[in-house]
Amino acid sequence: MSTPTGLRRVLVTGGAGYIGSHVVYALQQTRRYKVVSVDNHHNSFPASLIRVAQLARDALPENPSEADKESAEIDAFQCDLTCPEQIKDIFERYGKGGIWGVVHIAVSMVPFMRVELYRITIFQAYKAVGESVEIPLTYYTNNVAATVSLLQIMSDFDCTRIVYSSSATVYGTPPVIPIPETTRLKADSPYGKTKVMSEMVIDDLCHAEPDRWRAISLRYFNPAGAHPSGLIGEDPRGRPGNLLPLLAHMAIGRVDDATLKVFGNDYPTPDGTCVRDYLHVLDLASGHLLALDALEPESSVFDNCPDDARYKAYNLGKGKGMSVLQIVEAMHKATGFDFKYEIIGRRRGDVPDLTADPALAEMELGFKAPQTLEVMCRDLWNWQTKNPQGYTQQ
Ligand code: WQD
Repeated sequence: MSTPTGLRRVLVTGGAGYIGSHVVYALQQTRRYKVVSVDNHHNSFPASLIRVAQLARDALPENPSEADKESAEIDAFQCDLTCPEQIKDIFERYGKGGIWGVVHIAVSMVPFMRVELYRITIFQAYKAVGESVEIPLTYYTNNVAATVSLLQIMSDFDCTRIVYSSSATVYGTPPVIPIPETTRLKADSPYGKTKVMSEMVIDDLCHAEPDRWRAISLRYFNPAGAHPSGLIGEDPRGRPGNLLPLLAHMAIGRVDDATLKVFGNDYPTPDGTCVRDYLHVLDLASGHLLALDALEPESSVFDNCPDDARYKAYNLGKGKGMSVLQIVEAMHKATGFDFKYEIIGRRRGDVPDLTADPALAEMELGFKAPQTLEVMCRDLWNWQTKNPQGYTQQ
């Protein structure tokens, strides 16, 4: 069932987060979808979706149709996947079949006081490999149990299409680089295991009900950068754990200790520091649009799936690995900031190299990640300089 103007409703969990807001932006730019965002302010801000909707309105044609105008508005709710009643309320609002598909980018955080801010909902995943070792139950509750709960509600409301945000961490320490999707899944951290388990749950569901469910897991490598407008970007609360936002905070003066601690330079890599496959967050977002297209009945991506189960997983990466020191140099060029660093011990959960083999996504989804590291660093720095204190300034 479509919206009154014929749009397809797509529910995005984690819609106001860094990746979620860029996916919502990409969905709105197609003017084919009406976005319903479900999210919770653990590590994100309502302002991101307000700005995303503004970008959509600014991009409308001169005489927008009713559908165009509707596509530029976001139905956003603050709720928590660990409270199924809250999610059920959302699906009730649109009725059976009212939501065409779900893009499941985040899972619920610790229950949060239910407050509807500007009818914006926000929600953030636990996604720190190291932290998951310290609080595994929180990760399993929020990343696996919440996903199971969401799938059950989706099924009850005849919403049986899902694009699931998985991660390169499902590969653990991969036996081959670059990594193809056929690599065995062997996560080393509770965080990575939650992603493997969630993929397995979705895969089993597609096997159990092959005529109902269609699902694609997108194994994110390392998203970076920001929308070139500088209106939306990554704004972690507190000191960023991830390398690129941390370097941006250092360059803008948001962290006291401006010496980067490099977690080990004794890895079997060209300069001894870890290698990751960084892709522009907008290229990552475009991969979600392609995955949604692949859930259409006429799509051929599931043609050779075993047991006719319509489930597939794809790597989203550039296929180009960059080391920590190369990233530091790239951010030096983008910011002009003279980063100081010291080599310390390895970080628990880190693996030497996570570089994607993106061939399957390129071939079957038409995925491309053309934007360069230079553009990622430029867009990240543009976001940071335009928002020195992130969203919290509004
Ligand atoms: C990159 C490299 C660090 C900080 C990613 C996602 C995360 C999760 C797991 C998403 C690593 C090094 C970092 C610092 C450092 N999955 N580093 N000093 O670890 O690849 O995590 O995959 O679904 O969300 O970001 O990314 O940015 O944390 O680290 O030396 O202060 O930089 O060791 O090699 P990572 P990262």
